Amino acid sequence: MKVLVIGSGGREHALVWKISQSQMVSEIFCAPGNPGIEDKASLVDIKADDIDGLLNFAKDKKIDLTIVGPELPLTLGIVDLFEGAGLKIFGPSKKAAELEKSKAFSKDLLRKYKIPSANYKLFTSSQSAGEYLKDQKFPIVIKADGLAAGKGVIICDSLESAEQAVEEILVKKIFGSAGNKIVIEEFLEGEEVSVLAFSDGNNIVPLEPAQDHKAIYDGNRGPNTGGMGAYSPAPIFTDTLAEEILENILKPTIKAMALEGRAYKGILYAGLMIIREEPKVLEFNVRFGDPETQPILMRMESDIVPLFLAAIEGRLDSQKIKWRKDASVCVVMASAGYPYSYPKGEKIEGVDKLRNSRNTVVFHAGTKKVDNKLVTNGGRVLGVTSLGNTVSEAIKNSYRAVSKISWENVYYRRDIGKKGVK
Ligand code: AMP
Ligand code: GLY
Repeated sequence: MKVLVIGSGGREHALVWKISQSQMVSEIFCAPGNPGIEDKASLVDIKADDIDGLLNFAKDKKIDLTIVGPELPLTLGIVDLFEGAGLKIFGPSKKAAELEKSKAFSKDLLRKYKIPSANYKLFTSSQSAGEYLKDQKFPIVIKADGLAAGKGVIICDSLESAEQAVEEILVKKIFGSAGNKIVIEEFLEGEEVSVLAFSDGNNIVPLEPAQDHKAIYDGNRGPNTGGMGAYSPAPIFTDTLAEEILENILKPTIKAMALEGRAYKGILYAGLMIIREEPKVLEFNVRFGDPETQPILMRMESDIVPLFLAAIEGRLDSQKIKWRKDASVCVVMASAGYPYSYPKGEKIEGVDKLRNSRNTVVFHAGTKKVDNKLVTNGGRVLGVTSLGNTVSEAIKNSYRAVSKISWENVYYRRDIGKKGVK
């Protein structure tokens, strides 16, 4: 089979790495990919949101299966486009991708189908939002409705900071048209966990859970990022909780989407807050998480390709995933300054030393090759991901690998996985 993976981050590197182990696959392409992916796939110079360009390429090369990494092409309707041309593609349709594209849509769906989530109200006018805020308790959470690269959520400790957030999103439009509408939401306090599941529209096969580290600084301080590291499994995730999430959240959501005429095929990513053992939905994503996918796929023993095909063909009820017993930890090495501005083009040393490591894979995200040298080219640069018998051992292995890699302005958290050690 010829497989095309769309995207260029650590998530897509992990997908290509995993797909390359499948006996069913003869050739892999990645558009646009990154230098780390080049080992296992041919890079194709087409951007992830150029969905017409991607379709032409897939038809031309007779691609048998396309896997979409990021949300943007999904919300632009790449799945509808490929399916219309008779091509197999893994991911939700444009109508189903609304679940991530619009927080207002997903909150209304959760409310309509009584799926546990925070109380909320929607606003388009800063004046009505301001009036509403006067009677609220703080902290409170303010979210831009649309896509904002993981940065559209502001947690506000006081009325003043909430008013400022409203002003910035609705009036100053710091997130552009993604901020034409806002969700003002009750602040939930608990422990966060991400659950990802394959769905074929009816049947669900959950992946092993992972915990992300959203904040930039140790101890979960500072602004939110796309994710500074992740580990799997998560000790908070007991069998009882897993069952509860499956029955009270994942299944009802897939059913609700089907009832709304938006049958959901692809990866459903539920960001959850666990409050005294009760899960509530924080958000949905319509794709694999990044960095969560890196540790999750390192733990997956089964071939992933049959799962993609079964999800597309509505046969997930026949699938089971086998997992390794090992734990896995991904430490994101970033450019200092991220999630705000940061330098690019700094020379990265040491990645080659880890090429043949037994339990570590260095997944590339924001890297580039200049004169055959690896340089930084983004906020999140590398995802150093290791296996270990336990989470503690995987943490040690990852940080040992991290210590071998360097560049001028490197930054990473020192406490990834710590909360996952019992
Ligand atoms: P989201 O993009 O909705 O997942 O939000 C990003 C992050 O903001 C989440 O991972 C949480 O850490 C935090 N967050 C979102 N909604 C809430 C909420 N209602 N209460 C507390 N924290 C939240
Ligand atoms: N790590 C969070 C996300 O992929 O959205």
